[in-house]
Amino acid sequence: MKRSTRQLVVSLSLMMAAAGAAAASEIPQIVKKDGRFALMVDGAPFVILGGQAQNSSNYPLALNKVWAAIKDMHANTLEIPVAWEQIEQVEGKFDFSYVDTLVAEARKNKVKLVLLWFGTWKNTGPNYVPEWVKFNNARFPRMLDKDGKNIYCLSPQGEETLKADKKAFVALMAHIKKIDEAQRTVIMMQVENEVGTYGFARDYAPKAEAQFNQPVPQAVLDYKKSPVALARSGTWKQVYGDYADEYFHAYSIASYIEEIAKAGRAVYNLPMFVNNALRDPLESPVKPWKENFASGGPTYDVIDIYRAAAPHIDFAGPDVYGPESKKFTATLDRFQRKDNPLMVPEMSNAPEYVRYTFQVLGRGAIGFAPFGIDYADYSNFPLGHKATDKTMTEPFGKIYAAFRPMERQWAKWAFEGRTYGIAEGDDRQPQTVDMKGWKATISFREWQFGEQKYFKDVKDLPAGTEKPNGGVAIAQIGENEFIIIGQRARVKIDHAEGKPSMWARVEEGRYDASGKWIMERNWNGDQTDYGLNLTGNPVVLKVKLGTY
Ligand code: DGJ
Repeated sequence: MKRSTRQLVVSLSLMMAAAGAAAASEIPQIVKKDGRFALMVDGAPFVILGGQAQNSSNYPLALNKVWAAIKDMHANTLEIPVAWEQIEQVEGKFDFSYVDTLVAEARKNKVKLVLLWFGTWKNTGPNYVPEWVKFNNARFPRMLDKDGKNIYCLSPQGEETLKADKKAFVALMAHIKKIDEAQRTVIMMQVENEVGTYGFARDYAPKAEAQFNQPVPQAVLDYKKSPVALARSGTWKQVYGDYADEYFHAYSIASYIEEIAKAGRAVYNLPMFVNNALRDPLESPVKPWKENFASGGPTYDVIDIYRAAAPHIDFAGPDVYGPESKKFTATLDRFQRKDNPLMVPEMSNAPEYVRYTFQVLGRGAIGFAPFGIDYADYSNFPLGHKATDKTMTEPFGKIYAAFRPMERQWAKWAFEGRTYGIAEGDDRQPQTVDMKGWKATISFREWQFGEQKYFKDVKDLPAGTEKPNGGVAIAQIGENEFIIIGQRARVKIDHAEGKPSMWARVEEGRYDASGKWIMERNWNGDQTDYGLNLTGNPVVLKVKLGTY
């Protein structure tokens, strides 16, 4: 090679290496286009196929049981707490040894991290604040009830509490930046955990009372319309009537969180979100708080208030612990908004929830993470799965394993609005999905061969379908082309305008690491004559249809 050519080759490869490094170290962020969102990780859309560890596994020696479960689940991301009590046991002295171990081990296990900041609020209570905060009511005031008595929650009006929580969070963000800026293992932060207050609508201490009687800030008025027509401006009570206590508490907590998130992002600008212990998504019209959920938390009816008060929070995500399919769908509808990307940061890991994986991912969520993915000797049954072994992770693991090789493509298709997802309803009835030019019909409890009407005498039902557990996710990757992934369901696709059509190809296979489709076999004959029959073992199908 001539010297000049060699020089050119060397400098070109240096440039390419530099470009590669730049792409790899691009900071994660959430971007929006055409009302849809993508979580960008290493410069491209990413979908969190996650699992959340149990609450008390946030210690170096407890992590092995978490990694084992995350591995069996084929998850690409672990959600796990970092507690204020563990990083600042002594005021002003920070210990990040757990964070260091966690990040190093996540890299070894090739998974990303979403860190959950357990600070002033964890399931509304202050259990995770350091002892020097927990019992110093004078400096870190608790909320007061109407009789002026301390209640269990710290007050969002507590200036010293906010200052101290913020300081710890900022120190954490600075540390993450220091150890992770080059590799970006940590991709997102949850600020606090299931905030709000059970049993009390808000703080009734003099400071909170005074603020409650001030005019509602303009930003809130702009975002949040009152469910009942009252004064257009004025005090909280004048504008929001019976909803005022809850709305004011939501505003107080959101403003507190905003301060923390803003300061944290100023140091290291990772995406940040809040999670929500839900209120009934089917209540209509939405009624004022009546001790029926945690007042002040980011429930769907106050997302507007969180948007107004906390612009440094990217979204509010629902923690779903109710198995009813109608409620599940309604919750997704409530949280997937043009100003709120969908992510399910927690969901029960019980068997009846497995099917929702397809629904959530198909709806274009940026992330999904069942809770309790951890072989610690603890199970939150009856809320979650009874088991603490592989039988808990395997049902999700099979689905993630099918998604994983195409996770980047899936995230891109979702961002482009090409994906759809459904889960079998409690009524077990067929469902339809309207796509561009095509309509899918998905039915359940079918055998792989034949139509039920041909076999009226056969009373058997396919094993494993005793309870609803079917689900399908579809990506329309071309005019007549689809990627289908699902379980325990039959999929038929018809032309939307009724033109006669038939399968052109139904290839079973997978995408390789470079994004190339590898076909394993082409389904035809019995495998397609009665629709595409998906068993309990999810496979990926690349399907083409044509009309005649
Ligand atoms: C929701 C909380 O956010 C989690 O930390 C955990 O407590 C679960 N509930 C219940 O196991």
